[in-house]
Amino acid sequence: MITASAPGKIILFGEHAVVYNRPAIAVPVAQVQAIVTIEPRAHGLIIHALDTDRTLDYAQADPLDPLAAIVRVTLAHFDLPAPDGSLTIRSAIPIASGLGSGAAVSVAIVRALAAWLDQPIDDETVSRLSYEVEKLHHGTPSGIDNTVIAYSRPVYFVRGQPIETFEVKRPFTVAIGNTGVASPTKIAVGDVRRGWEGDRAQYEAWFDQIGAIASEARAAIEHGAIDQLGPLMDRNQGLLEHIGVSSVELERLIAAAKAAGATGAKLVGGGRGGNMITLIDETNRETVVAALYAAGATNVIVTGIGEW
Ligand code: PMV
Repeated sequence: MITASAPGKIILFGEHAVVYNRPAIAVPVAQVQAIVTIEPRAHGLIIHALDTDRTLDYAQADPLDPLAAIVRVTLAHFDLPAPDGSLTIRSAIPIASGLGSGAAVSVAIVRALAAWLDQPIDDETVSRLSYEVEKLHHGTPSGIDNTVIAYSRPVYFVRGQPIETFEVKRPFTVAIGNTGVASPTKIAVGDVRRGWEGDRAQYEAWFDQIGAIASEARAAIEHGAIDQLGPLMDRNQGLLEHIGVSSVELERLIAAAKAAGATGAKLVGGGRGGNMITLIDETNRETVVAALYAAGATNVIVTGIGEW
């Protein structure tokens, strides 16, 4: 049997604007992982997705199904036929919640198949193959999810440009609060596209401001100026509200975190539901986490950034 895994991720700054070629910053979240195992089986390739309770026979599967699709692009890359085996996916990453669950499952499947077929593969290829399937999840994905998850490092990402990783001078801590509202990224991304088509000048101006915040945040993280990050999160959240991807539930958690002493908070990923993040430290960690649960969070993950 072989096992491969991939972490979740959060976009610290710059989601949505990144689709329109502005920079964004994303980091892996090792506390939640997608894990894929492959075991021997006599005939054919069977895919079991335990969390969504699905079983697919690869030979019969809809080619547009994301699980079948990532297997297909991986086999095509190696120019090999489907192996016999039983491929099982377990993921602790909440689906459709801004934590990159789709990309993590894809990355773990590519790595598992490569190991099963005894084929070497580098991070860039893992990322590229996963991107093919991100298109099914997102419509017009920027590629940030597959990149940060395949490389498992903090990235400063600009669509179409070589990836840049960066240093975290002083580690910091964020709490990730789940609204419990599943919200497919593709829908939020499509709505932003329609908004942009309706008023390009306004949306381009908002995207410019979001991109500038991502760049400022990168400089702050590289210089260890963590106190600047809270206000930057608040500014980023304000712009995400303008472009229409926030929600009542997200704003309830954001307000609760701030009332409990957090210096900044914003939604993460596609928005409309899913998760928010807030910057915390040792002095307010317990109060902020308790406030998030009291305001209706279904789950809170506390993760250190820069502690790898
Ligand atoms: O919701 P997530 O974790 O899949 O992140 C989506 C990020 C967006 O910027 C909204 C879309 C994209 O393709 O970058």
